[in-house]
Amino acid sequence: MNDSSYFDLDDNIVHLNHAAVAPWPIVTRDTVIAFARENSRIGSQRYASWLETEQQLKEKMARLINAESVDEIAVLKNTSEGLSVIAHGLHIEPGENIVVPDEEFPSNRIVWLALHNKGVEIRLVSLEDSDSPEQTLIDAMDQNTRLLSCSSVQYAKGLRLDLARLGEACQHNGTLFCIDGIQSLGAMRFDAQAFHADFVVADGHKWMCAPEGTALFYCRRDKQDQLSLHQHGWHMLQDAFEFSHSHEGVVIAETAQRFESGSPNMMGIAALDASLGLLLDIGIEDIERLVLANSDYLIRGLKHIDDIEILSPTKRGRYAGITTFIKQGVDNVKLYQHLQANNVICAHRGGGIRFSPHFHTEQERMDRALELVDGFA
Ligand SMILES: Cc1ncc(COP(=O)(O)O)c(C=O)c1O
Repeated sequence: MNDSSYFDLDDNIVHLNHAAVAPWPIVTRDTVIAFARENSRIGSQRYASWLETEQQLKEKMARLINAESVDEIAVLKNTSEGLSVIAHGLHIEPGENIVVPDEEFPSNRIVWLALHNKGVEIRLVSLEDSDSPEQTLIDAMDQNTRLLSCSSVQYAKGLRLDLARLGEACQHNGTLFCIDGIQSLGAMRFDAQAFHADFVVADGHKWMCAPEGTALFYCRRDKQDQLSLHQHGWHMLQDAFEFSHSHEGVVIAETAQRFESGSPNMMGIAALDASLGLLLDIGIEDIERLVLANSDYLIRGLKHIDDIEILSPTKRGRYAGITTFIKQGVDNVKLYQHLQANNVICAHRGGGIRFSPHFHTEQERMDRALELVDGFA
């Protein structure tokens, strides 16, 4: 099967926006339709099978990030919720600090800035002009650094960080390591254990090609007790389906299930399970190879166009699926609007135009986007 045939994209559409909201594969569309049909005909009669899908999804998520155990995985609503569970669950003392790249997406900035009034220092460290972004972050850490939080791949210009190096530095310094993985999970290999990650969060709607609103949340087993719980509900209990126990009989789940408060998003779970199943069947290693080949193709193509300045890193190892650029001498907002009007789905980010094809994007479609950029004056 050719990679594009897993999708049913309209021939007119050039979808270069997986860093925003991805299209769903056919298998995911069909799963959602089947779920809706089943629900409308027999309601929740097969609820037990929904629970099985929920468990299967957690197992797939654990595989995707190489978690040691599925007990380290919870399914939350989105990345922002996951980051909030961490930020407000940790007991951070006044005088301690948190290090965050200054170029992070708002979700991974404001959540930490919200701790400022508790006397916690937030160190926003710019990586923009750094030759060694990891060293810049490590240099910003000291013995009071409680946590480093960064994206695996920066949302605007696509800088990819060396997570193993950062994780090692955190471990050495006794600092917790939190990774916003939304811009790489589903596109790039990821190893939570090798990266010494304590927390990993990512919604499924970008590179995992699933609907918005269902997110992976990983909390390393030995760090789960460090997060106090601020969301409560039946689903966090050890015996979630034993509704009648007395107050004294309430036992919070020993696993990451404790971070899930109430009814799961069963339709989103079914959809993300289908998408992840596809990606894992194809193989993340192969997907990563194709994603990088598509980025290389775009970088080469853009370099052939007059007046293009690529804002993204172009050194191998420093980028994943995002290529952001400007065309000198033209209004780039107008260029962006021109692309959108001609069915090139992309984004205006980081002061430029962001293209983010996935493994299934054909070169022929990228050529159409490049021609439009070339022809725009
Ligand atoms: C790096 C990064 N983190 C977080 C988010 C937002 O995630 P969510 O909507 O799942 O909270 C985005 C969305 O663009 C993002 O690029």
